[in-house]
This record gives sequence, C-alpha cells and structure tokens, in this order.
Amino acid sequence: MTITSLVTGGAGFMGSHVVRHLLQQRHRVVILDDLSGGTTENVHVDALFYEGSILDNQLINLLFKKYNFTYVYHLAAYAAEGLSHFIRNFNYQNNLIGSINLINAAVTYDIKRFVFTSSIAVYGTNTLPLIETQHPQPEDPYGIAKYAVELDLINACKMFGLEYTIFRPHNVYGSHQNIGDKYRNVVGIFMNQILKKQPLTIFGDGSQTRAFSYVDDVAPYIANSVRIPEACNTIFNIGSDAVYSVKELAVAVNKAMRSDMGIKQLEQREEVVHAYADHTLFKTVFKPKEHTTLELGLLEMARWVKTHGSRSSKEFQDVEITKKLPASWQQSKKQ
Ligand SMILES: NC(=O)c1ccc[n+]([C@@H]2O[C@H](COP(=O)([O-])OP(=O)(O)OC[C@H]3O[C@@H](n4cnc5c(N)ncnc54)[C@H](O)[C@@H]3O)[C@@H](O)[C@H]2O)c1
Repeated sequence: MTITSLVTGGAGFMGSHVVRHLLQQRHRVVILDDLSGGTTENVHVDALFYEGSILDNQLINLLFKKYNFTYVYHLAAYAAEGLSHFIRNFNYQNNLIGSINLINAAVTYDIKRFVFTSSIAVYGTNTLPLIETQHPQPEDPYGIAKYAVELDLINACKMFGLEYTIFRPHNVYGSHQNIGDKYRNVVGIFMNQILKKQPLTIFGDGSQTRAFSYVDDVAPYIANSVRIPEACNTIFNIGSDAVYSVKELAVAVNKAMRSDMGIKQLEQREEVVHAYADHTLFKTVFKPKEHTTLELGLLEMARWVKTHGSRSSKEFQDVEITKKLPASWQQSKKQ
C-alpha cells in the first residue's frame, strides 16, 4: 500500500530535507508551501508541489480529499521568533490558525499521525538544560503560538484519537536554508554577510548561548518518527548538545568560510539569553547516530552556500508594532 504524506513547508529548509527522507522511504509526498520563506529550488522533483497557504481551507480540504494522506508533517511557519513581538496578528494567523486548519482536516480525514515541529521557544527562560518535563513559559508570540498548537494537538488526541509526535528543535542549520533572511538563523546571516564582505552583526555582546544543530541530525528523525511506536503522542527536544556563544559561532563560521570578517555589535534585543536542551528522551527512543560536530556541519553548509551565492534580504512588509523595534529592523515599518 502506498503511504502518502503531506509536508507543509516542504519548500523550506527543514521541510525539504524531511521530504527527501520520506521519498527515500518510498512515501508519496505532497508539498504545500506558499513560498513566503521557501523556494522552488528546494522542491524535490519527485514530490507533488502545491503553491498555497495553510490558511486556505478550501485548498486544504481539496488536498486531503484527493490524496487520502496517511501522515501529515506540519513544518510550515513564519519562524522569525524575534520579529514575532512586532507582527503578533500575522504570527497567530499564520502559525496558530494555519496549524489548527490542518489539525481540523487531520481529524476529519482520519490521519494516522500528525507530526509537528514546535520549538524550544516554548520553554522561554527556564532552568537549563531545557527538558520536556518542565512547564513551558514562552516569552514571545512565536513560542506562544507553538505551545498553543501543542496543546491543541494533545486535546485533539484526547477528544478524537488523532495521534501526534511533537518535536522541539533549536538553532538548526545546513543546506537549503534561506541565508537571506535577516530576521533569523544566525549561521545563515553570518555566511550571507561573509559572501557580501560585510561584518558579522551580533545583537549585544555575543555572550548569548545556543546549541547549533546540523540538519542531518534532525530531519531524518522527524521523517522516521511515524515508524516508531514510542514516538506516538510524545514530545521530544531534538538537536545538538554542544553549546556555543554567538561570538564563538562567529569565529567558527569565519573558519568554515575561510574568511576573517570582523564583528559589528548591534544593540541588545529582547531575547532569551541562554537556551539549550536535554535530549535524553530523544536518544532513548530514536537511538540516533553521533552528532555532527559544529566544525563539520559548518563546512558542509559553507560548501553549499558558496555554490549557491549570497541572497538579498526581503523586508517584512507589514510590521504591526514599531515600539521597541530594533533599529536594524526599522525599515520594516509600515509606511
Ligand atoms: N530552523 C530552526 O532552527 C527551527 C527551530 C525550531 C523550530 N523550527 C520550526 O521548524 C519548521 C521549519 O523551519 P525552517 O527553519 O525550515 O523554516 P523555513 O522558513 O525554511 O520553512 C518554513 C516553510 O513554511 C512555508 N510557509 C510559511 N507560512 C506558510 C503558509 N501560511 N502556508 C504555506 N507555507 C507556509 C515557507 O514558505 C517555508 O518554505 C517551522 O515550523 C519552524 O518554526 C525551526
């Protein structure tokens, strides 16, 4: 029997890697992506691609009816966490209501498993390392939307028996990433700046820490999760254990790109200062291969970036709140 999977956000960074792994496992894959962040370049030739939005219920119903999906992998989101304070309405429409549209369809059409990429943003400032048993206390609208979707999935499971697997990734980097997005993905931002011979911009003094995670240590496990019974109705942190400051990252990216670009310090912005997670549960259930080191992962990404070139950053056009908007994002104001 052919397994057909819907991958929302399949023209994006992580989604396109998940699509590749699903195709390798002989799933028939349908991608729904509005190309707001992704590109057709990322769309796998063997997948069926629909350019459209998760806000379009008519299209969602048409797809669920036509393809009789077994699984839904929901990765579509506007994931600019820092910007989400200033685009609250858009954030909740796109990331929360869009997700609920898919959950409704998944219940109605008896989908076997709904796989959702949440984020460690749900934890907010919490005791480190962040662990699944902690009570989430998200500190920005992006994290709040992700947590609300998690709660809705748990509720839909209780009420209708919709099975789910939720992943909370963090700071994922690798090929297919939109390095032209100035609002997110510090690795991509640094590489783009190096290609453009611009200094690497850091908010504050660069002492904030993150565990940067290579996409090959994340995407295959998301794809495989539907085959693992212990992953059913469970929430997993996923990503690297190795913690680096953003300043250390700048040095490592320079090395991978064989460059020596200086650092330009920007004003401190509103963000969680230290964020890294415990992955014991993930390791117990998925038994992953050893993690790619930052050095190796950056080298792989640098190779891809150099063959694809720099990208210009698209301004987010409809900033809703301009109070406290970081100066480097100021041009995003509504005219
Ligand atoms: N990259 C990370 O470090 C990271 C960390 C935690 C969570 N996540 C989550 O993982 C998922 C994938 O992230 P990514 O880094 O690959 O981002 P991405 O921007 O590369 O991919 C998201 C895709 O969703 C599409 N999209 C956005 N809104 C849409 C809509 N309304 N309808 C249809 N498509 C829409 C975009 O065009 C894009 O292709 C997101 O849900 C994100 O929140 C990512």
